Amino acid sequence: MRQQDRQRAQLRREDPHLAPGASEEAAVGRRVFAEGRGPVLTDLDGNQYLDFAAGTLTQSLGHTHPEVVEALTAQAGRLWNVHDAATPNRAQLLDTLARLLPEHLDTYALFSTGAEVVEAALRVVQATAPPGRNRIGALRHGFHGKTMGARMLVHWDIGHQAFAGNSVLGYAPYCYRCPLGLERPTCGVRCASLVRRHIAEKPNTSALVFEPVLGAAGVIVPPPGYWEQISEAARENGVLLVADEVLTGGGRTGTFLASELIGVEPDLVAMSKGLANGFPFAVLAGRHDLLHDPAAATPGAYASTYASNPLGIAAARATLEVIERDRLLEQVARLGELLGDRLGALHERFENLGEVRGLGLLWGLEFVTDRASRTPSPALARAVYAAALDLGLRVALGGHVLRLAPPFTIDEALLDEGVGLLAKAIEQAVAA
Ligand SMILES: Cc1ncc(COP(=O)(O)O)c(C=O)c1O
Repeated sequence: MRQQDRQRAQLRREDPHLAPGASEEAAVGRRVFAEGRGPVLTDLDGNQYLDFAAGTLTQSLGHTHPEVVEALTAQAGRLWNVHDAATPNRAQLLDTLARLLPEHLDTYALFSTGAEVVEAALRVVQATAPPGRNRIGALRHGFHGKTMGARMLVHWDIGHQAFAGNSVLGYAPYCYRCPLGLERPTCGVRCASLVRRHIAEKPNTSALVFEPVLGAAGVIVPPPGYWEQISEAARENGVLLVADEVLTGGGRTGTFLASELIGVEPDLVAMSKGLANGFPFAVLAGRHDLLHDPAAATPGAYASTYASNPLGIAAARATLEVIERDRLLEQVARLGELLGDRLGALHERFENLGEVRGLGLLWGLEFVTDRASRTPSPALARAVYAAALDLGLRVALGGHVLRLAPPFTIDEALLDEGVGLLAKAIEQAVAA
């Protein structure tokens, strides 16, 4: 049995003062993590865990990567905040972004969190939209953050009431639970034709905000043909494509942007989680003409207290330079294939795994009561999550889906070890 004493005492101590409303992961896990090194976390009682959630899908290079620690430590002794004034690392960071991103996304504004950068993208859309185009499109099952503008685009239960506002909704490519009751490939990707029709018939829509792979909803990967139809409709109707790559941007799916994999050329891209290896940092990347549009680029439009802060810039510069130098995108693609194979074997073995899907090092496992009814089983997902933690594996939990997103730097042996622990956890949870 793993030691828990010091953790329990610490959690009891914070209970009287800490507001409730923690993530399901923290509430179910009840762990106090004290240290992280590469893919391994250590809790306050000295137990170790393989971290297949990479923080919160943030530590692309693993915990406390030495080069990021060095960059942050050097910067911490030098300068922390001068609003958005230029500091020495900023020019190099912008050059690195320009090398890693598709050529047409050559202009960048810097922020600190996912919701903040999504809001900035919405401001650009609203400022540059032709008169009368006052609605913004989003996809069912998309997640974009919890600030009001971002929340307006999220139409599923994330713990409190939605604020629908002025957004319009399209069907997500959730084939396992097709909202139209159809099956691939005979469906002809009808969900996409309906989004297409929506775009064409609602001339007041200025932009479609989308996750290329819908992350929080359980790693929903679009089938071929989905984005071809939608991006063509957006182009034909002057609707901007705004990719929310807060989760996928920075290489998680094996290309720097997941948009590249699905063949979409977005006009604006929001990125955050993986960019600075867990340090709060975000980038809005966009077409030159959009981000320079005088209506969008009013004085102070891209500034905020922590936007451009030198610590975030130092961490992002170090992280992205390691990703580029060590050719980690290729590694993500290669390890992703392996992980997909291993998880495919779990799918064959466990009846309660309704579907396993993913790209690169981003995978979702959907738990069901049985394959025939496909009834979601959040209780089983929670039990597997808790059992995995007890065995020394940390994954990400959301409803009836577990997500796996190990650091890009993990090796094959640890990848196998993690999947082995997960198999044991499922075995235990199913038998309980
Ligand atoms: C796709 C996407 N957009 C936006 C956000 C919001 O980011 P943050 O929690 O940093 O505000 C998230 C967070 O998980 C996300 O996954």
